[in-house]
Amino acid sequence: MNESSFKGFNAPFVAENIIFLDEIGSTNDYAKDLGKNGTSSGTAVITAKQSAGKGRLGRIWDGGEAKDIYLSLLLRPKGDSSRLTLMAGVCVANTLNRFLTDLDEKAMIKWPNDVVVGGRKICGILTERGEYGVVVGIGINIGRESFPEELLDKATSLNIATGQKHDRAEIIKFLLTNLSLYYESFENSGVSSFIEEYGSLCVNIGKTVAIHENNVVYTAAATGISPDGKLEITLENGTKRVLDSGEVSVRGIYGYV
Ligand code: BTN
Repeated sequence: MNESSFKGFNAPFVAENIIFLDEIGSTNDYAKDLGKNGTSSGTAVITAKQSAGKGRLGRIWDGGEAKDIYLSLLLRPKGDSSRLTLMAGVCVANTLNRFLTDLDEKAMIKWPNDVVVGGRKICGILTERGEYGVVVGIGINIGRESFPEELLDKATSLNIATGQKHDRAEIIKFLLTNLSLYYESFENSGVSSFIEEYGSLCVNIGKTVAIHENNVVYTAAATGISPDGKLEITLENGTKRVLDSGEVSVRGIYGYV
């Protein structure tokens, strides 16, 4: 994959300009700097390798090998952007499902925004906001063939899941086209434009989840997604609650872990 793979391609609203880099610390940081310098909304930054990739909660996102997807979008949405990450998760899941057609396992979303295949994480999304606008950073494991011991049962890549090799540029183009369509609807109609599809892709619904909240862990049944993207749960005593993504961390995909 290199710049020539994207020649003549663009995606309205989200990737009207594409900047392709061979290697960078973090595409999110690069996109933020562009935003601070006045670069227009709808700029995508793609790199082959990422040497200081950032994950959520201050974690590192490994990107040393030029085998996966590292992509950030600089956007300046008109309205409330707080659910843009959920929308990006839907776009990643349904993009990957185009390539997972021969498998029983489909790409699903672990609330709020990890994309998983067979219960293993395949994509993480880190959204950052500031005076520069909104940067949505997407990392998708495509070509890596192995993971460190501690991640073996927690992570996967598209090549591992399908047993086939995939072209990163082709997947990025599908993804950006998808993001373009969904972003236009999101700008016009907000969360309602995708939340039903989000609910149908959410792997937690109907399962028991472990909820980590202020150093307390409890289990509950995940029962649905609210119209504004919160996780609806029912506690063992029958109490119903809705959880916002910033407040809690949900663990356990197929049951209590
Ligand atoms: C997570 O922790 O699940 C989020 C991981 C987000 C990684 C992507 S890779 C492209 C973009 N640039 C970064 O530094 N991080 C995001």
